[in-house]
Amino acid sequence: MDTNLFEENPFLHEVARRLLKAREQGQLLLQNGDSGFASAPSNIALLKYWGKKNGLRQIPVNSSLSLSLGNFRSVTCVSVRGRFFPLKNGHPDNAGARPEFTVSLNGREEVMPAKMEKFLRNILSIYAPDIALHVLSQNNFPTACGVASSASGYAALAGAVADLLNLERFLDDTELALWISEWSRLGSGSATRSSVMPNKSTKISSSVSRFVAWELCENADSRAETLPLSRTFECVAHSKFQKLRHCLLVLDSSPKATGSSEGHELAQTSVLQSLRLAQYPRRYTSMLGALGSGDFGKVAETSETDAFEMHAVMATGAVPLQYMTSLTSAALKTFIEERNRSSAEMFWTLDAGPNPHFLFDAEAASVLAGVFAKLGRDDRFKNARVLLPCREVPQELIVGLGPLEKLGFRIDSMTSEPMLENCDLLTASQILCR
Ligand code: PMV
Repeated sequence: MDTNLFEENPFLHEVARRLLKAREQGQLLLQNGDSGFASAPSNIALLKYWGKKNGLRQIPVNSSLSLSLGNFRSVTCVSVRGRFFPLKNGHPDNAGARPEFTVSLNGREEVMPAKMEKFLRNILSIYAPDIALHVLSQNNFPTACGVASSASGYAALAGAVADLLNLERFLDDTELALWISEWSRLGSGSATRSSVMPNKSTKISSSVSRFVAWELCENADSRAETLPLSRTFECVAHSKFQKLRHCLLVLDSSPKATGSSEGHELAQTSVLQSLRLAQYPRRYTSMLGALGSGDFGKVAETSETDAFEMHAVMATGAVPLQYMTSLTSAALKTFIEERNRSSAEMFWTLDAGPNPHFLFDAEAASVLAGVFAKLGRDDRFKNARVLLPCREVPQELIVGLGPLEKLGFRIDSMTSEPMLENCDLLTASQILCR
Protein backbone atom coordinates (compact mmCIF):
# COMPACT_ATOMS: atom_id res chain seq x y z
CA MET A 1 0.00 0.00 0.00
CA ASP A 2 1.14 3.51 -0.77
CA THR A 3 0.67 5.07 2.69
CA ASN A 4 1.47 8.57 1.47
CA LEU A 5 -1.24 8.37 -1.14
CA PHE A 6 -3.88 8.00 1.57
CA GLU A 7 -2.27 10.68 3.72
CA GLU A 8 -2.54 13.06 0.79
CA ASN A 9 -6.07 11.98 -0.17
CA PRO A 10 -8.00 11.83 3.11
CA PHE A 11 -11.40 11.30 1.49
CA LEU A 12 -10.19 8.11 -0.20
CA HIS A 13 -8.67 6.97 3.07
CA GLU A 14 -11.93 7.54 4.88
CA VAL A 15 -13.88 5.54 2.28
CA ALA A 16 -11.35 2.70 2.43
CA ARG A 17 -11.76 2.52 6.21
CA ARG A 18 -15.54 2.53 5.79
CA LEU A 19 -15.25 -0.39 3.36
CA LEU A 20 -13.00 -2.32 5.74
CA LYS A 21 -15.66 -1.95 8.41
CA ALA A 22 -18.30 -3.14 5.94
CA ARG A 23 -16.18 -6.15 5.13
CA GLU A 24 -15.61 -6.91 8.81
CA GLN A 25 -19.36 -6.81 9.34
CA GLY A 26 -19.97 -9.12 6.40
CA GLN A 27 -21.65 -6.41 4.28
CA LEU A 28 -18.94 -6.33 1.64
CA LEU A 29 -18.41 -9.79 0.24
CA LEU A 30 -16.03 -10.39 -2.64
CA GLN A 31 -16.28 -13.85 -4.15
CA ASN A 32 -14.67 -15.60 -7.07
CA GLY A 33 -16.49 -14.54 -10.25
CA ASP A 34 -17.99 -11.29 -8.92
CA SER A 35 -17.77 -8.66 -11.67
CA GLY A 36 -18.15 -4.94 -12.21
CA PHE A 37 -18.72 -3.11 -15.51
CA ALA A 38 -18.32 0.42 -16.82
CA SER A 39 -17.79 2.33 -20.02
CA ALA A 40 -16.22 5.78 -20.23
CA PRO A 41 -15.75 8.30 -23.03
CA SER A 42 -12.34 9.69 -23.90
CA ASN A 43 -11.99 13.47 -24.07
CA ILE A 44 -10.12 16.10 -26.02
CA ALA A 45 -8.78 19.08 -24.10
CA LEU A 46 -9.57 22.57 -25.41
CA LEU A 47 -7.41 23.93 -22.60
CA LYS A 48 -4.55 21.55 -21.97
CA TYR A 49 -3.21 20.07 -18.77
CA TRP A 50 0.56 19.99 -19.13
CA GLY A 51 2.74 19.74 -16.02
CA LYS A 52 1.85 18.72 -12.50
CA LYS A 53 2.57 19.84 -8.99
CA ASN A 54 4.65 17.55 -6.79
CA GLY A 55 3.05 14.96 -4.59
CA LEU A 56 0.78 12.01 -4.96
CA ARG A 57 -2.47 13.84 -5.41
CA GLN A 58 -1.85 14.23 -9.15
CA ILE A 59 -2.58 17.94 -9.07
CA PRO A 60 -2.11 19.81 -12.36
CA VAL A 61 -0.23 23.10 -12.64
CA ASN A 62 -3.18 24.65 -14.47
CA SER A 63 -6.91 24.18 -14.87
CA SER A 64 -7.98 22.41 -18.04
CA LEU A 65 -11.20 21.93 -19.95
CA SER A 66 -12.29 19.29 -22.42
CA LEU A 67 -15.02 18.06 -24.71
CA SER A 68 -16.17 14.51 -23.91
CA LEU A 69 -15.77 12.13 -26.83
CA GLY A 70 -18.70 9.79 -26.29
CA ASN A 71 -17.98 7.91 -29.51
CA PHE A 72 -14.41 7.09 -28.46
CA ARG A 73 -15.03 4.74 -25.54
CA SER A 74 -13.44 2.13 -23.33
CA VAL A 75 -15.58 -0.62 -21.90
CA THR A 76 -14.16 -2.50 -18.92
CA CYS A 77 -15.06 -5.51 -16.82
CA VAL A 78 -13.25 -6.23 -13.56
CA SER A 79 -13.75 -9.63 -11.94
CA VAL A 80 -12.56 -11.37 -8.82
CA ARG A 81 -10.46 -14.43 -9.48
CA GLY A 82 -9.38 -17.17 -7.14
CA ARG A 83 -10.19 -18.06 -3.58
CA PHE A 84 -12.06 -15.81 -1.27
CA PHE A 85 -10.41 -15.39 2.12
CA PRO A 86 -12.64 -14.37 5.01
CA LEU A 87 -11.38 -11.72 7.39
CA LYS A 88 -9.54 -12.87 10.49
CA ASN A 89 -9.42 -10.62 13.56
CA GLY A 90 -10.86 -7.78 11.53
CA HIS A 91 -8.19 -7.83 8.85
CA PRO A 92 -7.64 -9.63 5.58
CA ASP A 93 -5.81 -12.76 6.69
CA ASN A 94 -3.09 -12.70 4.09
CA ALA A 95 -2.63 -8.95 3.64
CA GLY A 96 1.03 -9.53 2.79
CA ALA A 97 0.17 -11.82 -0.13
CA ARG A 98 0.04 -10.37 -3.62
CA PRO A 99 -2.53 -12.33 -5.56
CA GLU A 100 -1.88 -12.17 -9.24
CA PHE A 101 -3.65 -9.53 -11.33
CA THR A 102 -4.25 -10.29 -14.98
CA VAL A 103 -5.44 -8.19 -17.88
CA SER A 104 -6.80 -8.57 -21.35
CA LEU A 105 -6.51 -5.35 -23.38
CA ASN A 106 -8.30 -5.13 -26.69
CA GLY A 107 -8.65 -8.90 -26.92
CA ARG A 108 -5.06 -9.75 -26.00
CA GLU A 109 -3.90 -11.24 -22.72
CA GLU A 110 -1.06 -9.02 -21.55
CA VAL A 111 1.19 -8.58 -18.57
CA MET A 112 -0.56 -5.95 -16.51
CA PRO A 113 1.27 -2.62 -16.89
CA ALA A 114 3.00 -1.67 -13.61
CA LYS A 115 1.04 1.59 -13.46
CA MET A 116 -2.30 -0.21 -13.67
CA GLU A 117 -1.29 -2.83 -11.13
CA LYS A 118 -0.17 -0.17 -8.64
CA PHE A 119 -3.42 1.70 -9.22
CA LEU A 120 -5.58 -1.35 -8.48
CA ARG A 121 -3.51 -2.45 -5.48
CA ASN A 122 -3.86 1.03 -4.03
CA ILE A 123 -7.63 1.04 -4.57
CA LEU A 124 -8.03 -2.34 -2.83
CA SER A 125 -5.46 -1.84 -0.10
CA ILE A 126 -6.85 -1.60 3.43
CA TYR A 127 -10.07 -3.54 2.77
CA ALA A 128 -9.28 -6.10 0.07
CA PRO A 129 -5.54 -6.61 -0.53
CA ASP A 130 -6.15 -10.36 -0.58
CA ILE A 131 -8.23 -10.68 -3.74
CA ALA A 132 -7.01 -11.34 -7.27
CA LEU A 133 -8.51 -9.36 -10.12
CA HIS A 134 -8.87 -9.89 -13.82
CA VAL A 135 -9.39 -6.80 -16.00
CA LEU A 136 -10.96 -7.06 -19.44
CA SER A 137 -10.85 -3.78 -21.31
CA GLN A 138 -11.69 -2.87 -24.86
CA ASN A 139 -11.46 0.42 -26.75
CA ASN A 140 -13.67 0.99 -29.76
CA PHE A 141 -11.01 3.21 -31.34
CA PRO A 142 -7.61 2.23 -32.72
CA THR A 143 -4.59 2.55 -30.41
CA ALA A 144 -2.06 5.33 -31.06
CA CYS A 145 -4.60 7.27 -33.14
CA GLY A 146 -4.40 10.53 -31.20
CA VAL A 147 -7.11 9.81 -28.67
CA ALA A 148 -5.89 9.06 -25.16
CA SER A 149 -6.97 5.58 -24.16
CA SER A 150 -5.65 6.31 -20.66
CA ALA A 151 -8.40 8.90 -20.10
CA SER A 152 -11.28 6.58 -21.03
CA GLY A 153 -9.40 3.52 -19.73
CA TYR A 154 -8.80 4.72 -16.16
CA ALA A 155 -12.25 6.29 -15.84
CA ALA A 156 -13.85 3.01 -16.99
CA LEU A 157 -11.58 1.03 -14.66
CA ALA A 158 -12.49 3.17 -11.64
CA GLY A 159 -16.18 2.91 -12.61
CA ALA A 160 -15.95 -0.88 -12.99
CA VAL A 161 -14.31 -1.25 -9.55
CA ALA A 162 -17.05 0.95 -8.05
CA ASP A 163 -19.60 -1.41 -9.62
CA LEU A 164 -17.73 -4.50 -8.40
CA LEU A 165 -17.67 -3.16 -4.83
CA ASN A 166 -21.30 -2.11 -5.14
CA LEU A 167 -20.29 1.26 -3.76
CA GLU A 168 -23.77 2.66 -4.14
CA ARG A 169 -24.61 0.82 -0.92
CA PHE A 170 -21.90 2.60 1.05
CA LEU A 171 -21.65 6.08 -0.50
CA ASP A 172 -24.19 8.70 -1.42
CA ASP A 173 -24.33 9.98 -5.01
CA THR A 174 -21.97 12.88 -4.39
CA GLU A 175 -19.43 10.69 -2.61
CA LEU A 176 -19.63 8.04 -5.31
CA ALA A 177 -19.02 10.59 -8.07
CA LEU A 178 -16.11 12.04 -6.08
CA TRP A 179 -14.61 8.60 -5.41
CA ILE A 180 -14.66 7.70 -9.12
CA SER A 181 -13.35 11.11 -10.13
CA GLU A 182 -10.51 11.04 -7.58
CA TRP A 183 -9.36 7.53 -8.47
CA SER A 184 -9.64 8.26 -12.20
CA ARG A 185 -7.36 11.28 -11.71
CA LEU A 186 -4.85 9.20 -9.76
CA GLY A 187 -4.79 6.74 -12.67
CA SER A 188 -4.27 9.38 -15.34
CA GLY A 189 -4.87 13.12 -14.85
CA SER A 190 -7.06 13.61 -17.92
CA ALA A 191 -9.18 10.59 -16.90
CA THR A 192 -10.86 12.70 -14.25
CA ARG A 193 -12.49 14.67 -17.12
CA SER A 194 -13.89 11.36 -18.45
CA SER A 195 -15.40 10.32 -15.14
CA VAL A 196 -18.50 12.52 -15.13
CA MET A 197 -21.61 10.44 -14.46
CA PRO A 198 -25.12 11.14 -15.74
CA ASN A 199 -27.25 13.26 -13.53
CA LYS A 200 -29.67 10.87 -11.81
CA SER A 201 -32.63 13.18 -12.23
CA THR A 202 -32.15 13.51 -16.00
CA LYS A 203 -32.05 10.75 -18.56
CA ILE A 204 -28.71 9.85 -20.11
CA SER A 205 -28.27 12.39 -22.86
CA SER A 206 -27.21 10.74 -26.04
CA SER A 207 -26.22 13.62 -28.21
CA VAL A 208 -25.67 16.80 -26.23
CA SER A 209 -22.00 17.78 -26.13
CA ARG A 210 -20.46 17.71 -22.70
CA PHE A 211 -17.69 20.03 -21.58
CA VAL A 212 -15.83 19.14 -18.42
CA ALA A 213 -13.50 21.34 -16.40
CA TRP A 214 -10.76 20.08 -14.13
CA GLU A 215 -10.18 23.11 -12.01
CA LEU A 216 -7.17 23.87 -9.90
CA CYS A 217 -8.49 25.23 -6.61
CA GLU A 218 -7.13 28.49 -5.28
CA ASN A 219 -5.77 26.74 -2.22
CA ALA A 220 -3.87 24.22 -4.30
CA ASP A 221 -0.55 25.01 -2.66
CA SER A 222 -1.97 24.58 0.79
CA ARG A 223 -0.69 21.74 2.94
CA ALA A 224 -4.02 21.30 4.70
CA GLU A 225 -5.07 17.70 4.24
CA THR A 226 -8.78 18.11 4.04
CA LEU A 227 -8.96 20.76 1.33
CA PRO A 228 -9.78 19.67 -2.19
CA LEU A 229 -6.92 20.83 -4.39
CA SER A 230 -8.70 20.34 -7.67
CA ARG A 231 -12.24 19.55 -8.69
CA THR A 232 -13.92 18.18 -11.77
CA PHE A 233 -17.31 19.35 -12.96
CA GLU A 234 -19.44 19.70 -16.04
CA CYS A 235 -19.38 23.22 -17.51
CA VAL A 236 -22.45 25.18 -18.48
CA ALA A 237 -22.42 25.48 -22.26
CA HIS A 238 -24.61 27.66 -24.46
CA SER A 239 -27.03 25.84 -26.78
CA LYS A 240 -24.72 26.96 -29.60
CA PHE A 241 -22.29 24.24 -28.47
CA GLN A 242 -24.80 21.50 -27.78
CA LYS A 243 -24.05 19.80 -31.06
CA LEU A 244 -20.42 20.70 -31.55
CA ARG A 245 -19.10 18.04 -33.88
CA HIS A 246 -15.72 16.39 -33.77
CA CYS A 247 -13.51 14.25 -35.97
CA LEU A 248 -9.92 13.10 -35.95
CA LEU A 249 -7.42 13.08 -38.77
CA VAL A 250 -5.03 10.16 -38.28
CA LEU A 251 -1.75 10.91 -40.05
CA ASP A 252 0.56 8.63 -38.12
CA SER A 253 -0.48 5.82 -35.83
CA SER A 254 2.90 4.74 -34.52
CA PRO A 255 3.07 4.76 -30.72
CA LYS A 256 4.60 7.93 -29.31
CA ALA A 257 8.18 7.74 -28.11
CA THR A 258 7.63 9.80 -24.94
CA GLY A 259 4.61 9.20 -22.76
CA SER A 260 2.71 11.93 -20.97
CA SER A 261 4.09 11.08 -17.48
CA GLU A 262 7.60 11.97 -18.63
CA GLY A 263 6.25 14.93 -20.61
CA HIS A 264 4.56 16.43 -17.55
CA GLU A 265 7.87 16.33 -15.69
CA LEU A 266 9.76 17.92 -18.56
CA ALA A 267 7.27 20.80 -18.80
CA GLN A 268 8.90 22.70 -15.94
CA THR A 269 12.26 22.62 -17.73
CA SER A 270 10.99 24.81 -20.56
CA VAL A 271 11.50 28.56 -20.18
CA LEU A 272 8.15 28.97 -21.89
CA GLN A 273 6.16 27.10 -19.24
CA SER A 274 6.05 30.05 -16.83
CA LEU A 275 4.89 32.33 -19.66
CA ARG A 276 2.20 29.81 -20.57
CA LEU A 277 1.04 29.46 -16.97
CA ALA A 278 0.94 33.23 -16.58
CA GLN A 279 -2.01 33.20 -19.02
CA TYR A 280 -3.99 31.17 -16.50
CA PRO A 281 -6.39 31.54 -14.74
CA ARG A 282 -7.51 34.41 -17.03
CA ARG A 283 -7.56 32.11 -20.04
CA TYR A 284 -9.53 29.49 -18.14
CA THR A 285 -12.09 32.03 -16.91
CA SER A 286 -12.40 33.49 -20.37
CA MET A 287 -12.96 30.03 -21.88
CA LEU A 288 -15.69 29.25 -19.34
CA GLY A 289 -17.32 32.60 -20.17
CA ALA A 290 -17.13 32.03 -23.94
CA LEU A 291 -18.64 28.55 -23.59
CA GLY A 292 -21.47 29.90 -21.49
CA SER A 293 -22.23 32.84 -23.78
CA GLY A 294 -21.98 30.92 -27.06
CA ASP A 295 -18.95 32.85 -28.32
CA PHE A 296 -17.67 30.32 -30.87
CA GLY A 297 -14.86 32.57 -32.13
CA LYS A 298 -13.44 33.02 -28.65
CA VAL A 299 -13.58 29.31 -27.83
CA ALA A 300 -11.90 28.50 -31.15
CA GLU A 301 -9.16 31.10 -30.85
CA THR A 302 -8.41 30.31 -27.20
CA SER A 303 -8.23 26.60 -27.86
CA GLU A 304 -5.89 26.94 -30.85
CA THR A 305 -3.60 29.32 -28.95
CA ASP A 306 -3.51 26.97 -26.00
CA ALA A 307 -2.59 23.97 -28.15
CA PHE A 308 0.17 25.96 -29.86
CA GLU A 309 1.59 27.07 -26.54
CA MET A 310 1.58 23.55 -25.11
CA HIS A 311 3.50 22.32 -28.16
CA ALA A 312 5.96 25.20 -27.82
CA VAL A 313 6.59 24.16 -24.20
CA MET A 314 7.01 20.55 -25.28
CA ALA A 315 9.55 21.49 -27.93
CA THR A 316 11.70 23.63 -25.63
CA GLY A 317 12.17 21.43 -22.54
CA ALA A 318 15.40 19.76 -21.40
CA VAL A 319 14.49 16.90 -23.72
CA PRO A 320 12.68 18.54 -26.65
CA LEU A 321 9.49 16.74 -27.61
CA GLN A 322 8.41 17.27 -31.19
CA TYR A 323 4.97 15.77 -31.73
CA MET A 324 3.97 17.75 -34.83
CA THR A 325 5.25 16.36 -38.10
CA SER A 326 5.53 18.05 -41.48
CA LEU A 327 2.24 16.36 -42.41
CA THR A 328 0.55 17.82 -39.32
CA SER A 329 1.70 21.30 -40.32
CA ALA A 330 0.59 20.80 -43.93
CA ALA A 331 -2.87 19.58 -42.85
CA LEU A 332 -3.31 22.45 -40.38
CA LYS A 333 -2.20 24.96 -43.01
CA THR A 334 -4.91 23.79 -45.42
CA PHE A 335 -7.48 23.67 -42.63
CA ILE A 336 -6.69 27.23 -41.50
CA GLU A 337 -6.65 28.59 -45.08
CA GLU A 338 -10.07 27.11 -45.89
CA ARG A 339 -11.52 28.16 -42.56
CA ASN A 340 -10.27 31.73 -42.86
CA ARG A 341 -11.45 32.01 -46.46
CA SER A 342 -14.98 30.93 -45.53
CA SER A 343 -15.20 32.19 -41.92
CA ALA A 344 -16.65 28.77 -41.09
CA GLU A 345 -17.05 27.97 -37.40
CA MET A 346 -14.41 25.34 -36.92
CA PHE A 347 -11.10 24.94 -35.13
CA TRP A 348 -8.33 22.44 -34.55
CA THR A 349 -6.47 21.13 -31.57
CA LEU A 350 -3.64 18.68 -31.03
CA ASP A 351 -2.71 16.50 -28.04
CA ALA A 352 0.65 14.84 -27.43
CA GLY A 353 0.78 13.37 -30.93
CA PRO A 354 0.79 14.31 -34.61
CA ASN A 355 -2.92 13.74 -35.35
CA PRO A 356 -5.15 16.84 -35.39
CA HIS A 357 -8.64 16.95 -33.94
CA PHE A 358 -11.16 19.11 -35.78
CA LEU A 359 -14.16 20.63 -34.01
CA PHE A 360 -16.92 22.24 -36.00
CA ASP A 361 -20.45 23.51 -36.07
CA ALA A 362 -22.82 21.42 -38.25
CA GLU A 363 -23.05 24.40 -40.66
CA ALA A 364 -19.30 24.20 -41.26
CA ALA A 365 -19.38 20.54 -42.34
CA SER A 366 -19.17 21.38 -46.05
CA VAL A 367 -16.06 23.52 -45.53
CA LEU A 368 -14.38 20.70 -43.60
CA ALA A 369 -15.45 18.34 -46.41
CA GLY A 370 -13.58 20.68 -48.78
CA VAL A 371 -10.46 20.48 -46.60
CA PHE A 372 -10.55 16.67 -46.66
CA ALA A 373 -11.18 16.63 -50.43
CA LYS A 374 -8.17 18.88 -50.97
CA LEU A 375 -5.90 16.81 -48.73
CA GLY A 376 -7.25 13.63 -50.32
CA ARG A 377 -5.92 14.76 -53.71
CA ASP A 378 -2.46 15.30 -52.24
CA ASP A 379 -0.30 12.20 -52.49
CA ARG A 380 1.42 12.92 -49.17
CA PHE A 381 -1.89 12.11 -47.45
CA LYS A 382 -2.59 8.81 -49.21
CA ASN A 383 -2.36 6.82 -45.95
CA ALA A 384 -4.35 9.27 -43.85
CA ARG A 385 -7.56 8.09 -42.15
CA VAL A 386 -10.44 10.00 -40.66
CA LEU A 387 -12.31 8.83 -37.55
CA LEU A 388 -15.77 10.28 -37.64
CA PRO A 389 -18.59 9.65 -35.10
CA CYS A 390 -21.38 7.80 -36.90
CA ARG A 391 -24.17 7.60 -34.34
CA GLU A 392 -25.45 9.33 -31.27
CA VAL A 393 -24.14 7.87 -28.04
CA PRO A 394 -23.98 8.92 -24.38
CA GLN A 395 -21.24 11.32 -23.46
CA GLU A 396 -21.00 10.20 -19.83
CA LEU A 397 -19.44 7.44 -17.76
CA ILE A 398 -21.89 4.54 -17.63
CA VAL A 399 -21.57 2.21 -14.64
CA GLY A 400 -23.17 -1.23 -14.28
CA LEU A 401 -24.16 -4.12 -16.50
CA GLY A 402 -27.85 -3.15 -16.83
CA PRO A 403 -27.25 0.41 -18.10
CA LEU A 404 -24.58 -0.81 -20.50
CA GLU A 405 -26.78 -3.50 -22.00
CA LYS A 406 -29.64 -1.04 -22.33
CA LEU A 407 -27.33 1.12 -24.43
CA GLY A 408 -26.57 -1.75 -26.77
CA PHE A 409 -23.25 -2.96 -25.38
CA ARG A 410 -22.84 -6.70 -25.82
CA ILE A 411 -21.08 -7.67 -22.66
CA ASP A 412 -20.23 -11.22 -23.72
CA SER A 413 -18.02 -9.86 -26.50
CA MET A 414 -17.36 -6.43 -24.90
CA THR A 415 -18.50 -4.72 -28.07
CA SER A 416 -21.31 -2.48 -29.25
CA GLU A 417 -22.72 -1.31 -32.53
CA PRO A 418 -20.02 0.66 -34.41
CA MET A 419 -19.77 4.22 -33.15
CA LEU A 420 -17.10 5.47 -35.56
CA GLU A 421 -16.49 5.56 -39.29
CA ASN A 422 -12.84 4.83 -39.99
CA CYS A 423 -12.42 6.02 -43.58
CA ASP A 424 -10.07 7.67 -46.05
CA LEU A 425 -10.11 11.41 -46.72
CA LEU A 426 -12.33 11.35 -49.80
CA THR A 427 -14.92 9.13 -48.13
CA ALA A 428 -14.87 11.42 -45.07
CA SER A 429 -15.46 14.35 -47.40
CA GLN A 430 -18.52 12.62 -48.92
CA ILE A 431 -19.92 11.68 -45.49
CA LEU A 432 -19.61 15.26 -44.28
CA CYS A 433 -21.46 16.52 -47.36
CA ARG A 434 -24.49 14.27 -46.71
O1 PMV B 1 -3.68 12.42 -18.50
P1 PMV B 1 -2.30 12.40 -19.05
O2 PMV B 1 -1.28 12.27 -17.96
O3 PMV B 1 -2.16 11.35 -20.11
O4 PMV B 1 -2.00 13.81 -19.74
C1 PMV B 1 -2.77 14.34 -20.78
C2 PMV B 1 -2.06 15.45 -21.45
C3 PMV B 1 -2.70 16.00 -22.70
O5 PMV B 1 -3.50 15.03 -23.32
C4 PMV B 1 -1.59 16.38 -23.68
C5 PMV B 1 -3.52 17.25 -22.43
C6 PMV B 1 -4.85 17.07 -21.76
O6 PMV B 1 -5.23 17.96 -21.00
O7 PMV B 1 -5.53 16.07 -22.02
